[in-house]
Amino acid sequence: SVERTLAMIKPDAVKNGSVDSIVEKIEAAGFVVVARKNQQLSAAQAAEFYAEHEAKPFFGGLTTFMTSGPVVALLLEKPDAIKDWRALMGPTNTEKARAEAPESLRALFGTDGTMNATHGSDSFISAAREAAFWFSGDLIKERTLAM
Ligand code: CMP
Repeated sequence: SVERTLAMIKPDAVKNGSVDSIVEKIEAAGFVVVARKNQQLSAAQAAEFYAEHEAKPFFGGLTTFMTSGPVVALLLEKPDAIKDWRALMGPTNTEKARAEAPESLRALFGTDGTMNATHGSDSFISAAREAAFWFSGDLIKERTLAM
């Protein structure tokens, strides 16, 4: 069924000038970009967005990276958007993505295990929370009712 998911283009890919190429590939794969926002996260915002990883050893490096420059948040819509966006991104670790899914976005645009070009919600619950973090409830509700 038609779903929405939350994507981010991370600071490494924004700095590399890869935003337009990534958005082109997203649209070529059949996603509709419902909403888009450019913003640099504060430390508090990055910690809130990634709260589920707070106890992980990579949390400090992750939030430092995610606040190092602007990110592009995208609300994506498509049948099976959540699963299909994760497939288009490829494995979390860039090196693994290059080995296992060389055409994936992380293989093509990622840097390493932390700086991996893109983020995608991992479940329906995460997609709802992460979409609400970035975009107004009205926009989300309006699209939900239209579907
Ligand atoms: P993302 O899909 O945004 O979710 C959590 C992020 O933490 C991940 O992408 C990476 O940018 C970063 N990260 C760094 N180290 C790890 C790790 N060992 N496992 C998972 N994610 C990691």
